[in-house]
Amino acid sequence: MKSKKLWGGRFEEAPSSIMVRMGESISYDKTLFAQDVRGSIAHARMLQKIGILSKVELKKMELGLLQVLKEIKANQFEFKIENEDIHMSIESRLTEIIGDLGKKLHTGRSRNDQVSQDVRLYLKDEIILILESFLSLLAVWIRKAESSIDIIFPGYTHLQIAQPIRASHYFLSHFWANVRDFEEFLASFDRADELVLGSGALAGVNYPTDRVFLQKELRLSAINENSIDGVSQRDHILKFLFSVSQFSLHASRFAEEVILFSSLEFSYFRLPDSLTTGSSIMPQKKNPDIAELIRGKAGRVIGGLNHLMVMIKGTPFAYNRDFQEDKIPLFDAVNQVKLVLEGVREMVRELKILEKNTEKSLKQGFATATDLADWLVKRKGLPFRSSHEIVGELVKRCTEKHWTLDTIPKEERKKIHEALVDPEYEEAISLETSCEKKDVRGGTARRRQIEQISKAKQKLNDLTKQYIQRKGKLK
Ligand code: ARG
Repeated sequence: MKSKKLWGGRFEEAPSSIMVRMGESISYDKTLFAQDVRGSIAHARMLQKIGILSKVELKKMELGLLQVLKEIKANQFEFKIENEDIHMSIESRLTEIIGDLGKKLHTGRSRNDQVSQDVRLYLKDEIILILESFLSLLAVWIRKAESSIDIIFPGYTHLQIAQPIRASHYFLSHFWANVRDFEEFLASFDRADELVLGSGALAGVNYPTDRVFLQKELRLSAINENSIDGVSQRDHILKFLFSVSQFSLHASRFAEEVILFSSLEFSYFRLPDSLTTGSSIMPQKKNPDIAELIRGKAGRVIGGLNHLMVMIKGTPFAYNRDFQEDKIPLFDAVNQVKLVLEGVREMVRELKILEKNTEKSLKQGFATATDLADWLVKRKGLPFRSSHEIVGELVKRCTEKHWTLDTIPKEERKKIHEALVDPEYEEAISLETSCEKKDVRGGTARRRQIEQISKAKQKLNDLTKQYIQRKGKLK
């Protein structure tokens, strides 16, 4: 049987079942249908402009492509494995609708430049949606910081209580990490925002393709300079997968904090019932599944980045069929990052801090021991090494007797050092004072938090402008 493939001219035999099943990408790349139609309409218009299609032919072709689009959107399109991928599926349906004229569409184009262009258009569309969701997450961090500025929270290093901080400070630390993620996504958008059509299979095309016209039609910011590079590289996808991975790492670390801090042993956070799940066997359970899934998904998307890097690494010269599978981690990352953005946003919005428990831990964890040592230096003129030693002894004594820095009796303090019975002692170990003393830009003092919140708002404004500017570059 002679092959009926669009590329089947030179073939005597039809592809075997294994070739068809392994070669197909239609099962997943149908996601690109809208971008493929958009790219084809632009290409057809360019073909008319350079005299390959007449005006009447162009009109018919555009209407045909729009009908295909309509059929796919209405779920009335039959995807056939024999058509391999979205590009050939659309083209062969177009030919069914408008007859032999449909066969002119692929003039001066290869699927190699077509698929790269489609993915770039897809990335631009999806990144705009991701940025939109991101802006609302950033706004939620700021609101959370504003409402928690007067809550004192245990700050950790090595997962051991270190120093008191304002809860706003903690939430803003995640805000700034997410600002960098947002900027990565902006850069991924810019990386994708390039015309590759006209690269052909790899060498360029035998027609006077008007690439400037195509660039304007598709609203792209640049034209790639080298046709081999145009069809060879997947840096736009790598960059995007890196952006998703970086954000997912940040989300995963926050999720881990939520998991820990909402356990009985910490009890600093409470998630609402609506964001948790029960157990089918243990009636008492309330599990932070949303946070665990966010942590789990980080592994999945980082795996996707790794998948693509390893896949590309050994591919020689220009297009290789391996590249077909670049879309699997890409589509997955797009879907997952949207879920994670929404999940993190809802957790932040709904999270309650249980202040009694945070205060108890701060005290039991001697969170102001450093402040006391510094006070001994500043007010009592002791060298820091000595004050460190004295406070160390104080902590040791407290630990033995289950006291905290504010419950240890005066006479016990006196045994350790004269200076510890000074009337300013209470002040020196106060959580609030400890925060207020960190009066440096970026520090935890109240006025510095207010300053930071206003900086965060300015940043959000600036990022919103950048988002609007990129959105203007969509077709
Ligand atoms: N489905 C293919 C892909 O996603 C399209 C390009 C096919 N090109 C080729 N030379 N067979 O990469």
